[in-house]
Amino acid sequence: MKDSTAQSGSTWFDVDRNGLGRVVERRGKEFALFELIQNSIDAGSKSVRVDLKTLDRHCASLVVEDDAAEGFVSLRHAYTLFADSPKGTNPELRGRFDFGEKLVLSLCDEAEIVSTTGSVRFAKDGKRYFQKQAKRAAGTIFMAHIRMSKAEVEKALVAAHTIIVPVNVDISVNGSRISPRVPLAQFRTMLPTEVADADGNLRRRVRMTDVKLYKVLDGETASLYEMGIPVCETSDRYHYDVCQRIPLSLDRDSVNGPYLRAIRAEALSVAIPTLGPEDVRKHWVSEAIGAPNVEPAAVKAVMDLRFGEDAVAADPSDREGEKLSASQGRQVVHGGSFSSEQWQNIRKAGALPAAGQVTPGPGKLETEGVYKTIPESKWTTSMQAVALYSQRVGKHLLDRDIKVQFTADPGAHFQAAYGRERAGLTFNHFHLPGGKDWYDAPEETIDSMLLHEFAHEYSGDHLESLYHDALCDLGAKLRSCQARLLIARGEVGHAA
Ligand SMILES: Nc1ncnc2c1ncn2[C@@H]1O[C@H](COP(=O)(O)OP(=O)(O)OP(=O)(O)O)[C@@H](O)[C@H]1O
Ligand SMILES: [Mg+2]
Repeated sequence: MKDSTAQSGSTWFDVDRNGLGRVVERRGKEFALFELIQNSIDAGSKSVRVDLKTLDRHCASLVVEDDAAEGFVSLRHAYTLFADSPKGTNPELRGRFDFGEKLVLSLCDEAEIVSTTGSVRFAKDGKRYFQKQAKRAAGTIFMAHIRMSKAEVEKALVAAHTIIVPVNVDISVNGSRISPRVPLAQFRTMLPTEVADADGNLRRRVRMTDVKLYKVLDGETASLYEMGIPVCETSDRYHYDVCQRIPLSLDRDSVNGPYLRAIRAEALSVAIPTLGPEDVRKHWVSEAIGAPNVEPAAVKAVMDLRFGEDAVAADPSDREGEKLSASQGRQVVHGGSFSSEQWQNIRKAGALPAAGQVTPGPGKLETEGVYKTIPESKWTTSMQAVALYSQRVGKHLLDRDIKVQFTADPGAHFQAAYGRERAGLTFNHFHLPGGKDWYDAPEETIDSMLLHEFAHEYSGDHLESLYHDALCDLGAKLRSCQARLLIARGEVGHAA
């Protein structure tokens, strides 16, 4: 029988270096430079020297040397995965997983780290060798043969120059200094971060931080940075550099949607004066518009740029109002153009008022009665007769008690209007053909107007088939109506 205890005493896990290397390969190899440089900066270096040179088709020589006074506190950290990172409790240091350096090593055929506490050599034979005496007075040097093709080396060298170097730190790559950058603007905001608790577990915490905005240089894609180290591309207007840890996965290459949205919202306020009508159509601006922390003034400015200052929102409660807006050359923005979060912010900003508020359709106006009506005592007998006749026709066609009103208001853009809510019918002789004389028109003219208005009982929209059907039905029904205009005129003592 096979001895099941033969393996007792060995560790739980063995890491297959090559397997880990293959997992790491998915990330661009420039990550190796980013990991080593961020370790040097975290350690408090003022100067970091990187040398990356192709050796052959598959291999390059990589050296990263820094001047951090303390160097490696313990070389154990160079080969132990996932111990508590000594940096865990400080959200203004980049390292947290105790993993990055080992990922780089997994891509190396051989490597050596010499620091203040000694040196460790990772040899080709798969073993590591220590030398306590081989140590430096200050700083650390990492030397390796790393599996990188010529193309990967070239790409990594370009990527290294996208690092945003902290103030008072000097980083050179193959002898050329990474140019320092000056932020265009910065803001302070509350953002989630990760801090280790007493047990070493990384915990989410929301914390006030600075976010710096940088110009995107030619050939670069706008990116999100964590304390100078690129995390992921955003294609926004600026690079964003968050001055504390960003909650990241082990891959360090993505953030969640709400996190980026919160930054975009703040950045939008900074960017607004520089944006044109094309810029505000970009994805990042749309994202910003839906964020809970976006400034109302920024939302209003975006809407003005995108749709014009006189644009309105579509208004299902007043389709005629929409048409009036469109006829005045205003852009009518439809509901589907934005998400509910975006609409909420648009309303809060007072941008895109509903069409029915800006250019109320006749039906809406009638319902709200926002114009001056003529008191009944001032009605002429012609008006009285039309009122009486309209009530009788309305009762027959709609079986409702019609409330007739008259106005002569130039601001009320209708000849007649019917509001179905209160069955109100208003005539406006400022716009009726012939003015007040219209009330003496033949019965057919008045009938035509009444049919047009009473059909709005069924639909506010002249182009809807519902409206068309109502017109036909009411027209047919009118034949059986007993009311006569002539009789009404006689009843009120109208002089023929
Ligand atoms: N250049 C350096 N100078 C001083 N100490 C270093 C240096 N590089 C690495 N270390 C030490 O080695 C530890 C392990 O580094 P490693 O990159 O693996 O993990 P980390 O930086 O703690 O976290 P992360 O996995 O997020 O990078 C660091 O926490 C640090 O203590
Ligand atoms: Mg690290």
